[in-house]
Amino acid sequence: MKELSDSSVHLVVTSPPYPMVGIWDDLFREESAESYDAMHNYLNQTWMEVKRVLVPGGIACVNIGDATRTKDGVFHLYPNHSRVIETFERLGLVTLPYILWKKPTTKPRYKGKGAFLGSGFLPPNAYVTLDMEYILIFRNGNLRTFEPKDPKRYRSKFTKKERDEWFSQVWTITGTRQTHWGLERRVAAFPEEIPRRLIRMFSIEGDLVLDPFLGSGTTLKAAMDLGRRFIGYERLEDFSGIIKERMGRDSERIVFQNQSVARQVSELAA
Ligand SMILES: C[S@@+](CC[C@H](N)C(=O)[O-])C[C@H]1O[C@@H](n2cnc3c(N)ncnc32)[C@H](O)[C@@H]1O
Repeated sequence: MKELSDSSVHLVVTSPPYPMVGIWDDLFREESAESYDAMHNYLNQTWMEVKRVLVPGGIACVNIGDATRTKDGVFHLYPNHSRVIETFERLGLVTLPYILWKKPTTKPRYKGKGAFLGSGFLPPNAYVTLDMEYILIFRNGNLRTFEPKDPKRYRSKFTKKERDEWFSQVWTITGTRQTHWGLERRVAAFPEEIPRRLIRMFSIEGDLVLDPFLGSGTTLKAAMDLGRRFIGYERLEDFSGIIKERMGRDSERIVFQNQSVARQVSELAA
């Protein structure tokens, strides 16, 4: 993220490709990251940059799900969220209490297979369904400081109802609607309500919000609507069309540049 200087970003809201989740296998393979460790090492390069660009007291919110897979005939859990927490701790960020995003229930599993068949009613060989994802929250050092009565901060205030709902640990939010020719499904887009809440909770008007894994650009759209500045990166050029479409009349303020590493950066001029 060489376009970003050190200590310049106030908030990161992102959802990386999830290690050991089938839809991302090709991406990790293309990046020569086929084992669980290698997949996390690939993501760690971005987490190191996140640490570098965050302002003191800046926040990073990472939406990630755990995964299950049968390997060598044994079904087991790959706890992605704990790997990400360990990495951020090693980078020196402070881990804060996280949010569990409860998604509409998918079918329970029997012996690692999709359906919970009749025999699945007999103990002990069925598995708990993964129907939660994590929204991990980290802070870069101590609390941010503000001038007393900072007008931008006061204008960014949330209501009591918002505070009670948003700062509780379980969020029940249904998945995103499939518009845009199903591209959201291809990138596993999160519902706009997620970045919208996180941006209101952890930034103030005029702050710079970063999403290093843009996908369809949900975070950029929410940041734009909420009067924040924004910057994002996406590996695949295919998504520039959908990102522009979502940004609507503001799309002319986004710059897409091809980078030597075939990445794109979109930026709202500060
Ligand atoms: C889970 S999706 C993000 C979905 C997004 N939150 C949304 O709502 O559309 C992850 C995205 O990261 C992109 N990606 C993977 N590695 C990347 C990298 N090194 N730099 C930039 N983007 C990357 C993938 O192409 C994919 O679109």
